[in-house]
Amino acid sequence: MREQLEQIRSRALAELAAEATESAIEDVRVRVLGRAGELTEIMRGMREVPAQERPAIGQLVNQIKTELEARIEALQGKLKEAALERSLTEARLDVTLPGAKIPRGHLHPITLTIENMLRIFNAMGFEIVATRDIEDDFHNFAALNFPPDHPAREMQDTFFLGGGLLLRTHTSNGQIRVMEQRRPPLAIVCPGNCYRRDELSVRASPMFSQIEGFMVDRAGRITMAHLKGVLTEFLRAFFGSDTAVRFRASFFPFTEPSAEVDISCLLCGGKGCRICKHSGWTEILGSGMIHPNVLRAVGYDPAEYQGFAFGLGVDRTALLRLGVEDMRLFFENDVRFLGQFPASNERFA
Ligand code: DAH
Repeated sequence: MREQLEQIRSRALAELAAEATESAIEDVRVRVLGRAGELTEIMRGMREVPAQERPAIGQLVNQIKTELEARIEALQGKLKEAALERSLTEARLDVTLPGAKIPRGHLHPITLTIENMLRIFNAMGFEIVATRDIEDDFHNFAALNFPPDHPAREMQDTFFLGGGLLLRTHTSNGQIRVMEQRRPPLAIVCPGNCYRRDELSVRASPMFSQIEGFMVDRAGRITMAHLKGVLTEFLRAFFGSDTAVRFRASFFPFTEPSAEVDISCLLCGGKGCRICKHSGWTEILGSGMIHPNVLRAVGYDPAEYQGFAFGLGVDRTALLRLGVEDMRLFFENDVRFLGQFPASNERFA
């Protein structure tokens, strides 16, 4: 029995050599120490051992068991360490490699244009008020002094929604919405989307952005001179201080007198080119003194209050400012196109 045990021990120890693999170690553990292992078998056969030898044999079994377990643990520990060492050297993290850049989005150039314009008006003391895209005839036309059969209603080619509702054709509804609710003094800009039944083309889109602005106070306090001052200041802030600004008499139902405003062409600087149709000027906005009928429509007495208004098309202005030739590019939202404009963020800053 003793001999048998010594054999088990020396064989196991030989197999548990320093270079034993993980599976070799496991094999020895199962074969010798396992539940049906060699040592267990010997313990089971104890009955046949003479009584006086049993304690010594039992002791020897335990001793071998402890010895082998310690050996196994030591080997496994070493293997684990080696594995860790290997993974540390093999999968070394090279912190000097440049990181993968996470692509960063940015605002749409039209949005940037609107924000920049609003910032300028805001700095001049204008409050920003958003009104609504879905309007009724009163706020889009009637209160703005369009008679029922006015050709402009057709000219503007409105999207009618039924039930007396329509998609606003301009942000001038903002004047009516705000003045209905509030009393002067008012200095307000209303940005927003407008809709007309135009085909998407190089120069136009069925949905476009405008900024409506108006300033109203007691009669005599706001004049055409303020209108010219505010708009010239805005245009020079937005397009550059050397921009030439020209006011041209015009007509709108909701203003009297009315003026269209031109700036010197951004592409040719006034010399004349294809974009400005060789005039040297580009039309940028419409404006005028608010018509007494508009003031009446919102419950103001025209003898008491007076003010100016203007409407500015954002998309075409953005087009000119960014040197884009085709309006459709702004609406197709091809990221290869839009991705060119983070640089314009800086220009806008
Ligand atoms: N509502 C006009 C349009 O859609 C723009 C406009 C012109 C607004 C003159 C005004 C204005 O307030 O005074 O074309």
